Amino acid sequence: MTNRITELFKIEHPIIQAGMIWVSGYKLAAAVSNAGGLGLIGAGSMYPDVLREHIQKCKKATDKPFGVNVPMLYPNIEEIMDIIVEEKVPIVFTSAGNPKTWTNFLKEKGITVVHVVSSVKFALKAEAAGVDAVVAEGFEAGGHNGREETTTFTLIPMVKQKVKIPVIAAGGIASGRGMLAAQVLGADGVQIGSRFAASEESSAHINFKNTIVNTEDGGTHLTLKELAPVRLIKNKFFNDLQDLYTKNPSVDDLKSLLGRARAKKGMFEGDLDEGELEIGQIAGLIQEILPAKEILDNILQEYNEVKQSFC
Ligand SMILES: Cc1cc2nc3c(=O)[nH]c(=O)nc-3n(C[C@H](O)[C@H](O)[C@H](O)COP(=O)(O)O)c2cc1C
Repeated sequence: MTNRITELFKIEHPIIQAGMIWVSGYKLAAAVSNAGGLGLIGAGSMYPDVLREHIQKCKKATDKPFGVNVPMLYPNIEEIMDIIVEEKVPIVFTSAGNPKTWTNFLKEKGITVVHVVSSVKFALKAEAAGVDAVVAEGFEAGGHNGREETTTFTLIPMVKQKVKIPVIAAGGIASGRGMLAAQVLGADGVQIGSRFAASEESSAHINFKNTIVNTEDGGTHLTLKELAPVRLIKNKFFNDLQDLYTKNPSVDDLKSLLGRARAKKGMFEGDLDEGELEIGQIAGLIQEILPAKEILDNILQEYNEVKQSFC
């Protein structure tokens, strides 16, 4: 399939494996890129030297294009951007910050820049900042999210109506049907997170992967809107948060319960009670842990079959 997204990234299929803290290291990114999609290394959970190591290993593991996702809310951003330039990474997805801050710097170095947005307003801001494409991410998505609760189904056509640059849909897509639906709504490509979190190559702890497979519809909730809204599996930590909310907590109370390194504890170390378990609503559709290539191939097969059935 050839379209604006395959041409922009020089890839075979318009499928992007989302950058995900504690989940998307070089093994997952390389596996997806080798399978014809675009793999992203998630820099958000990596110290700069760890990121450099992952980039170097990714270059050895694939000769296909891959990128790095940089959530701008984390520290060491300057060092991270310098490493990306030094290591000649061709594509950067920025998120959780102002697209103006780094777009010019990266574009001047010949890097393709994509920014993640959760509203039409931010999509227009990203376009004005000069990015090459936007990821429009709906409320269903795993990880940090927009406050307005705009769903992917409504966000994609609204963003498509306003911007000229390519639109990549994210949030709730884990199948060929989902990919086709996103395209019908106006997306040029899809970014998939949760489904790849439960892949063999994901660096998530096996306890977390098994929990994703066992999560049913309704098993996640968007919380912590006062800090940075995040969609979590309803585990003990989530229930502790709910209890705290009944006491009308201050932002400091919430920060103090959240503490430090909860995401690492849950997703990387496998503490299913005390850890933060970030996943999207579509976890309910995920039935098994599979190799990344099989996930991608299954999506494409279903996409083609369903598309044909409509023609
Ligand atoms: C475990 C996890 C970690 C995530 N970490 C990041 C991140 O570091 N940076 C980012 O921009 N988005 C992050 N996200 C959001 C994804 O990049 C992606 O947009 C989202 O997962 C798409 O929705 P889906 O989960 O329904 O496929 C994360 C999502 C998950 C599930």
